[in-house]
Amino acid sequence: MTVTQLIYWSQPFGFDDSMLDGILLQARRNNPRNGLTGALIVRADLYLQLLEGPEAAIDATYARIARDDRHLQVTTIVKETVAERMFPAWSMRDDPAKSWMWSAAEVGNGAVERATPAEVRAVFTRLAAETA
Ligand SMILES: Cc1cc2nc3c(=O)[nH]c(=O)nc-3n(C[C@H](O)[C@H](O)[C@H](O)COP(=O)(O)O)c2cc1C
Repeated sequence: MTVTQLIYWSQPFGFDDSMLDGILLQARRNNPRNGLTGALIVRADLYLQLLEGPEAAIDATYARIARDDRHLQVTTIVKETVAERMFPAWSMRDDPAKSWMWSAAEVGNGAVERATPAEVRAVFTRLAAETA
């Protein structure tokens, strides 16, 4: 069975811990019901999320996410079918943006917009290989 993977980035709007907790609560409640798994990389200046599962569920969830006012500038980086999930055990893993990803200055200077889909996928591949 093929799996659809979607990766987007956005800019948090009014970011704080309780907002993040609320987002993760919703994701972890809804995603199992919708057959979705994934990971959310988080920092005050960046959300980078990978969602994976049946295409119809991805599309419906991403449509809700895209109109969520807790973030801005929601930008699709890649949508493709893959042979297997990267985060099969995670309704939504959350990780802080790490030093090996991008610095705040780099993000401010558009590093994520300039990254190729392959470079962004590689960030999640490396993350999936780490134990949370
Ligand atoms: C950065 C970010 C990531 C999100 N990730 C998910 C997700 O993985 N799954 C999900 O159902 N909702 C996610 N949401 C929340 C949706 O935008 C939306 O508020 C929610 O799905 C509505 O669900 P409810 O009707 O059950 O409250 C996310 C929101 C933000 C801002």
